[in-house]
Amino acid sequence: MTFEEAAAIPQGAVIALQGMRDKGQVQPGQKVLINGAGGSAGTFAVQLAKYYGAEVTGVDNTGKQDFMRSLGADQVIDYTREDFTKNGKQYDLILDIAAHHSVFACKRALTPNGSYFAVGGSVATMFQILLLGAWIKRSSGKNIRILAVRPNLKDLVFITELYEAGKIVPVIDRRYSLSEVPEALRYLGEGRAKGKIVITVV
Ligand SMILES: NC(=O)c1ccc[n+]([C@@H]2O[C@H](COP(=O)([O-])OP(=O)(O)OC[C@H]3O[C@@H](n4cnc5c(N)ncnc54)[C@H](OP(=O)(O)O)[C@@H]3O)[C@@H](O)[C@H]2O)c1
Repeated sequence: MTFEEAAAIPQGAVIALQGMRDKGQVQPGQKVLINGAGGSAGTFAVQLAKYYGAEVTGVDNTGKQDFMRSLGADQVIDYTREDFTKNGKQYDLILDIAAHHSVFACKRALTPNGSYFAVGGSVATMFQILLLGAWIKRSSGKNIRILAVRPNLKDLVFITELYEAGKIVPVIDRRYSLSEVPEALRYLGEGRAKGKIVITVV
């Protein structure tokens, strides 16, 4: 593993692992949707969901459709053209890295006992989940929660083993030097970065 790969793995991979394996308890054959699948945590989530045998739908912008397929996504959705909460499809597990839908829209996209976990996104969505998540669970059986990620060594060791076995790879789109940080942030802000960008400090 290079230093760049080592830097690109921890946050995204641990978010994805805890979302898929620990909280999501993903099972083979389940339908999983990852919103924000072309970014840092999303690229790991797609690979882990496939590793656990799920059928994966990745959601991200127009420029990342082929990229999500190359990671293993079975279906892809362009969020600029289609709203995954309005297309009539339902998923057993949704990992939302760019949460901005209402809790009712998220509920609609879940199968009867499905689970939705918000990792990052709008404050409004997070508040709605905190206020209404438990009530939705009681009234419908659908689980809508915020995923509070807990970084830990055990998960990093597990991820490293998957990396060594060739089961997951960190995707590094571009590498920049320290003096190129403004350009790196511009690239990230334009929404074009696939997976991670890395700053190399020599
Ligand atoms: N819950 C926790 O404990 C915890 C811990 C650490 C981090 N976090 C949060 O987790 C998130 C980490 O995300 P990351 O590192 O994977 O970010 P990232 O690399 O920026 O990826 C986010 C992806 O989501 C896409 N996206 C943006 N708006 C979208 C939309 N409306 N629908 C679908 N996709 C959309 C982005 O595409 P574009 O390029 O088009 O914008 C990008 O590909 C951050 O919000 C961070 O604050 C949470």
